Amino acid sequence: MAVLLTNSVATNGINKTVQMLNQNVSSLDAIESGIRLVESDPEAVWVGYGGHPNLLGTVELDAGIMDGLTLNAGAVGALSGYLHPISVARNVMEKLPHVFLAGNGAAKFAKDCNAESGDNLTMRTCKDWNDWLNNNRNWPDVSLIRLSMLTANNKTAKGTTIFLAQDNDGNFSAGSSSSGWSFKYPGRLGDSPVIGSGIYADNRYGAAACTGMGELTLRSNTARSVILYLKMNMTLKEACYE
Ligand code: GLY
Repeated sequence: MAVLLTNSVATNGINKTVQMLNQNVSSLDAIESGIRLVESDPEAVWVGYGGHPNLLGTVELDAGIMDGLTLNAGAVGALSGYLHPISVARNVMEKLPHVFLAGNGAAKFAKDCNAESGDNLTMRTCKDWNDWLNNNRNWPDVSLIRLSMLTANNKTAKGTTIFLAQDNDGNFSAGSSSSGWSFKYPGRLGDSPVIGSGIYADNRYGAAACTGMGELTLRSNTARSVILYLKMNMTLKEACYE
């Protein structure tokens, strides 16, 4: 029997992913399709279209995907101007000898792959950004360093969507997509595209993914750590607690 685990942000992608898994589609294809739907959902203000921008008003997206059968993985970070970072990450995994592209290089690769381009900033998130700046900047001191410290108190600071699946062939996959910390310092990368921190999958032990403030899971390599503890014969509860 196929299995799917997501977080609550994933609502728009769940039905499609379940349907595909029930039709014996691979877990990799199923989670990519589901995550694409979340990336298109303007209500998911931490993912894709309608995700919150950085301090300069640019939406920079992070995404990663991992195949538990082969341990292949692909990721993009701080990608701007493209609608489906999860598919660009999948292309990194399948078309390049690399795992992780960021910034301008990721955008060049997305263009080379004919990925769907578009502006991910919506009227709502542009207003959220303007309102936040108006409440927090202190003319003439508009230092991004000072402002970035203030974003740490922002209640909407952290979010992502995660999909973990096992298909009818027993193959695990993990995927994640995020616009990251709202109003982050430009170029900030979260855990979502960092294989081992935000996501990990290994058919022999399972799959793991993280939500919340990526700065914490980046420091602990949390997703891979949980899988490693399972490999060391800890129970799931012990592994997650550790
Ligand atoms: N977990 C998402 C982020 O910190 O960017």
